[in-house]
Amino acid sequence: MPTKAIKRSPRVKPGQREEETLRVLISHQRIRERVRHMAEEIRRDFPNEPIHLVGVLKGSVLFLADLARELGGEVSFDFISVSSYGKGMDSTGEVKMNKDLDVSIEGRSVLVVEDILDTGLTLKYLLVLFEERKPKHLRVAVLLDKVERRIADVKADYTGFVIPNEFVVGYGLDYDERYRNLPDVCVVRLGPRGKTKIEA
Ligand code: IMP
Repeated sequence: MPTKAIKRSPRVKPGQREEETLRVLISHQRIRERVRHMAEEIRRDFPNEPIHLVGVLKGSVLFLADLARELGGEVSFDFISVSSYGKGMDSTGEVKMNKDLDVSIEGRSVLVVEDILDTGLTLKYLLVLFEERKPKHLRVAVLLDKVERRIADVKADYTGFVIPNEFVVGYGLDYDERYRNLPDVCVVRLGPRGKTKIEA
């Protein structure tokens, strides 16, 4: 039996639910340019030095991949997985480790790569953990920073964009594991009666 084609508006994004709409906050073009400049800044600070990128899963994956390509020189990767958010948009306030690094960071020039700085609790937890492991340098690059939401006293060394206090998805960031593959960073808003509504 032939499958019935689902007609959707061309403004509907991949993975988008019927009751949802999305609004582009930062286009992929702007992200690419900013990531290129961030890489130049980082390489100016660490010329000719191997840089060990530590990506925080899963949100940082696309940012890390693009940043690594722009950095040039000797670059290695490792990943850590922590959770500070439950399902949906609310933080649990606690940070829990799900997966540790594969290799030691002792004596290395480490750049922690995060998708977004919100309360800062995740980054604070990671910096305390990594400092104890005696890296040569420990720096932080974040793509997005919601400065208004900060609880922990932490700052990134390299920041892509400061954004308002809105829940965002795309370019690695998710809402219940959806939207990570969007090329742009988009704002998600809740619709009436608790339904998710995302404006195009
Ligand atoms: P923090 O510990 O509150 O700074 O939160 C950091 C983590 O929360 C990020 O790495 C994201 O996984 C998640 N997060 C915070 N804000 C957003 C958002 O607007 N969209 C998607 N994930 C977010």
